[in-house]
Amino acid sequence: MQGVTIVDHPLVQHKLTLMRDKETSTKTFRALMRETATLICYEVTRELTMDEVEIETPVAPTKAKVIAGKKLVFAPILRAGLGMAEGMLDLVPSARVAHIGLYRDPETLKAVEYYFKTPEDIADRLVIVVDPMLATGHTAVAAIDLLKKRGVRDLRFVCLLASVPGVETLRAAHPDVQIWTAAVDEALNDHGYIVPGLGDAGDRTFGTK
Ligand code: URA
Repeated sequence: MQGVTIVDHPLVQHKLTLMRDKETSTKTFRALMRETATLICYEVTRELTMDEVEIETPVAPTKAKVIAGKKLVFAPILRAGLGMAEGMLDLVPSARVAHIGLYRDPETLKAVEYYFKTPEDIADRLVIVVDPMLATGHTAVAAIDLLKKRGVRDLRFVCLLASVPGVETLRAAHPDVQIWTAAVDEALNDHGYIVPGLGDAGDRTFGTK
């Protein structure tokens, strides 16, 4: 699929299978969400630009690589995105965090904004939007609309599980935004849930069901 990177590392796929299993406990699900997010973050940051700097080791002067270019912002969509963002911050602890509060209207399945707080200089940063489930795609599109209105131009989208319709909707609205995911499932049910999916990622992360 164009614009989509599937992170098919065996560890990611194994952990995703455990998360899909309805018998997996809240505690384990939450830990797995964090671990898979770290692994997916490793892939999404693979192409960050590098600079060379001169340093001195205890033995000799040398040239060595450092990450260059724009600073990172992780932008979790509340609330399920929080569990993923933690795993990404494990890998990039200096990243800033923008919180995006959107809920899905159960009738229309459209995204409604209720909270939006970002770093002031977000327009100068690379923003990675984080939401474990790319289901209908409406929430992801709305989140990216909000970020672009704040002047953000450099965006990526990270999820754990996407649906085919979700990918199509997001790519149609924002073809400049590349997607990283562990898997793409075929279908959505009448409630907008991914099938087979893993259920409600927020409820399973926070034990609210
Ligand atoms: N949100 C979820 O948590 N799960 C889905 O399957 C779809 C949206």
